[in-house]
Formats: sequence, structure tokens, C-alpha cells
Amino acid sequence: MAIHPFKEEITMQDKLVALVTGANQGIGLQIAKDMAAHGFTVLVASRNLARGEAAAGEVGPDALALQLDVTDQASIAAAAERIRTKLGRLDVLINNAAISNTSKRPDQSIEEYSKSVRASNVSLDEVRAVWETNVFGVLAVTQAMLPLLREAPAARIVNVSSGVGSLTLNADPAFPWRSIFGPVYAASKTALNAMTLAMAVELGPEGIKVNAVSPGFTRTNLNNYAGTETVEEGAREAVRVALLGPDGPTGTFSNTAGIIPW
Ligand code: NAI
Repeated sequence: MAIHPFKEEITMQDKLVALVTGANQGIGLQIAKDMAAHGFTVLVASRNLARGEAAAGEVGPDALALQLDVTDQASIAAAAERIRTKLGRLDVLINNAAISNTSKRPDQSIEEYSKSVRASNVSLDEVRAVWETNVFGVLAVTQAMLPLLREAPAARIVNVSSGVGSLTLNADPAFPWRSIFGPVYAASKTALNAMTLAMAVELGPEGIKVNAVSPGFTRTNLNNYAGTETVEEGAREAVRVALLGPDGPTGTFSNTAGIIPW
């Protein structure tokens, strides 16, 4: 029997497939480990392929490294094409990759840095750079992966946001993180929440659930390991909503304690 010229490239993929962006370290790497433990084949996406391969090795035999820079349209398109030819399916997309700043000096405290990036004095280049990754990157990756997700029987999209982006919480003068609410990182997560709701509204009728989660203050590179929670705790809510059944909600923002107001 003749072999279809492209068929040999395609592995018959019966297992569910999850893609985690920025999975080479931190919360993303832990989410990848947890999804593999739940029986998924996990695409460990990383800007740097070698780092992705090292992380995929840590996750185990059900992980595959994927080069993916969420700010680079060519990289995103190539990643989507690779998933289609290599696995032929995508069930869960976890938009985890993010940056907190591009300009914080290592000797600067978070308080000092936040004074230099207030609405009155922040460089627009800094705002654009952080939003490029945390907001537009999520939209671009989601758009590229949607054709595959739409073919999945019950696709899920999880956007890793942060409680510091909640407008409702920050409007309350008693909110402890209010003093660091600003146009760069915190507002990028507010905008990500808006994208989450927009995606949930559009994709709900198709059965694709889209939710945002807040990991909590987790010990990772993002905050120079100043966080108080472990990566296992930080990954938990993202994994829970990635595994929601047909009766689960869409268009929510939550952490392990429950719903967070937008
Ligand atoms: P991290 O800095 O260890 O991980 C971020 C990951 O994103 C890294 O793997 C990094 O390489 C990747 N990344 C950055 N820019 C990228 C790009 N252009 N393309 C692809 N990948 C890129 O930080 P952490 O804490 O693990 O962050 C994971 C998520 O959790 C982020 O969305 C962050 O905003 C969120 N979060 C973290 C909190 C914390 O306390 N650590 C609190 C609230 C939210």
C-alpha cells in the first residue's frame, strides 16, 4: 500500500494535548508537569528551544519541546504548524508566558521600580514591551491555535493572569497591592482579563471554555524569588480550570480560594 507522503510525519495522537507557553521554568514548568501527570501529552513551549528541551526532559516522556516566542508572529505560526504535523490535535492552551518589566535594575526594589513606572512618568516603550508579551502575545498565540482547538472535542483556554490586575480590588483603598497598581504589569493583566472575557463571549457557544486564573504570590524568577508560595501551589488553579468538565464555567477569573472580581 502506498504511504501518503506526509502521513509518516503524523503520529496518531489519541491522548489529549496541552500547550503551555513559557513552560521552561517557574509556574509554567509546574503546570506542564501537572498536565502530564493528568495524562496529557504536553508541549513545553519556550523562547529558547534548548531550554525547552531541558524542561521537557524534566517533565518526562509525554513532553515535547516547542520553540515559541509569543511576540514573534513567525515563531507562533511555525509552532502551530509543527503541532498540526507532529500531533494533529490541540485540546488545551495555557497562556502562561509573561514578563513583569524590561527595565528594572537588579539592585532596585519593587517599590523603587514601581515609583519609576507610574502613570505620570512611565516610558511608553516599557508599557508597550510588557503589553506586547502579556496581552498581544496571548491574543496572537490564541488566534494561531484556534483552528486546532476548534477541532478538539472540548477545548479549554487558560490565561494566567494576576489578582493585581483586578480593577474592582484596586478601586478599594484598603487593597494591600493598590500602591503598585500601574500601567505596566498590573494593567497588562487587567487588559488580559478583558481579552479573556472577549474570548469567552465569542467561543462559549462553540463549547470552548476560556478562564483567567491568578497563581498567587509565587517564588519564581518573575519576582526575584520573593514570592511566598511554591510553584506547586502557583500551578494548581490553572490546572484545575484546564481540566473543567462540560458543566464547568467559562469567562471566570479565579484563584484557589474562589472567584476574584474583575
Ligand atoms: P517566570 O519568569 O519564571 O516565567 C515566565 C515565563 O515566560 C518564562 O519561562 C519566560 O521565559 C517566559 N516568557 C517571557 N517572555 C516570553 C516570550 N516573549 N515568549 C515566550 N515565553 C516568554 O515567572 P512565573 O512566575 O512562573 O510566571 C508565570 C505566569 O504567572 C505569568 O503569567 C505571571 O504573570 C503569572 N503570575 C505570577 C505570579 C508570581 O508571584 N510569580 C503572581 C501572579 C501571576
